[in-house]
Amino acid sequence: MLNNKHIGFIGSGNMGEALISGLIGSGSAKPENIICSDIRQEPLDRLAKTYEIKTTTNNKEVITSSDIIIYAVKPQIIASVLTETAGLLDMSKLVISIAAGVPLAAIESCLDKTLRLIRVMPNVAVSVKEGATAIAAGSHALKEDVDLAMEIFNSVGKCVFLKENNLMDAVTGLSGSGPAYIFLIIDALSDAGVKMGLSRQDSQLLSTQTVLGAAKLVLETKTHPAELKDTVTSPGGTSIAGLHTLEKGGLRTTLIEAVETATQRSVELGKIITDTFNADKKNS
Ligand SMILES: NC(=O)c1ccc[n+]([C@@H]2O[C@H](COP(=O)([O-])OP(=O)(O)OC[C@H]3O[C@@H](n4cnc5c(N)ncnc54)[C@H](OP(=O)(O)O)[C@@H]3O)[C@@H](O)[C@H]2O)c1
Repeated sequence: MLNNKHIGFIGSGNMGEALISGLIGSGSAKPENIICSDIRQEPLDRLAKTYEIKTTTNNKEVITSSDIIIYAVKPQIIASVLTETAGLLDMSKLVISIAAGVPLAAIESCLDKTLRLIRVMPNVAVSVKEGATAIAAGSHALKEDVDLAMEIFNSVGKCVFLKENNLMDAVTGLSGSGPAYIFLIIDALSDAGVKMGLSRQDSQLLSTQTVLGAAKLVLETKTHPAELKDTVTSPGGTSIAGLHTLEKGGLRTTLIEAVETATQRSVELGKIITDTFNADKKNS
C-alpha cells in the first residue's frame, strides 16, 4: 500500500531517521517517494547520501510533496511547526504526529480544521527496528489511514491500534517508558551476576540475552508468559526458589505501580501541553 504513497517527514532526528531506515530497509517505501526536512542542512546532507531520499530545509515543501506527513519534531516546538504548515494541509493528506505526550485534541485544536489525523506513540527501540508502538485515530481518519500508519510502524517493530485514544497515556506508561524499566532490570541482573562471581562483561551479556530470549519466546510461541514460567519451574528447583524471592520483594506489584505512576504523569503532562497549546492559540 505504501509503495505508491509519497511520505514526508518534518524533523529528521533520531525518530525520523529510524523510520526512514525502516521503511526503505523493509521495502515498504521507495527512496524516491520519501522527503524529509530539518532546520539544519548537515543532517539532511547525510540522510540524502545514506538513503538517496529528497531533503529540504523548507517544511512547506514536505507538505506539498507528500500524501502522508509525519511530524517528528520535539513536543516543545510541534505547535509552532503545525501552525507554520497548517495552511497547506487538507483532507487529501494523512497527518501523523509522533510527538510524545501531545494529545490528539491539542493537535486538532491547534490545526483548527478537518483533517485525517493520527497520533502515534512509538518507543526508543524503533532505532533497532524493535519498537513497540500504539496508534490512535482522530475523528476524521479513515480505516485505510490506520492501515497505512500500521504499515509504517510495523516496518520498525510491532504496533497496536487503540480504539480509544485516551489509552495513549497508558501506552506512554507501559511501552513508552518501558525501555527504561527493562534497562534497570538488565543492569540489576548484571549486578547480581557480578555479586555471584561472574565478570561484568559476561554477566551483562547473559542478562541482556536472557531478556531478549524470553521476550522472543513469548512472541514467537504466542504462549501466555505464566504458562512459559510454569514450564521452566521444576519442583524444588532453582527457578521457583528465585521466583519466590521476587514475589516476596513485590516485583509484580512494583511494576504495576510503576506503569500506573507513569500513566498518571502522562495525563498531567498532557494537560499542561493542552493548556499551553490553547494559550498559544489565544495569543496568536
Ligand atoms: N526518541 C524517542 O525515543 C521517542 C519516543 C517516542 C516519541 N518520540 C517523539 O518523536 C519526536 C522526535 O523525537 P526525536 O528523538 O527524533 O527528536 P530529535 O532527534 O531532536 O529530532 C527532531 C529534529 O527536528 C529538527 N527540528 C527542530 N526544529 C525544526 C523545525 N522547525 N522544522 C523542522 N525540523 C526541526 C531538530 O533539529 P535540532 O536538533 O537542530 O533542533 C531535529 O533534527 C518527538 O516529538 C518525540 O517526543 C521520540
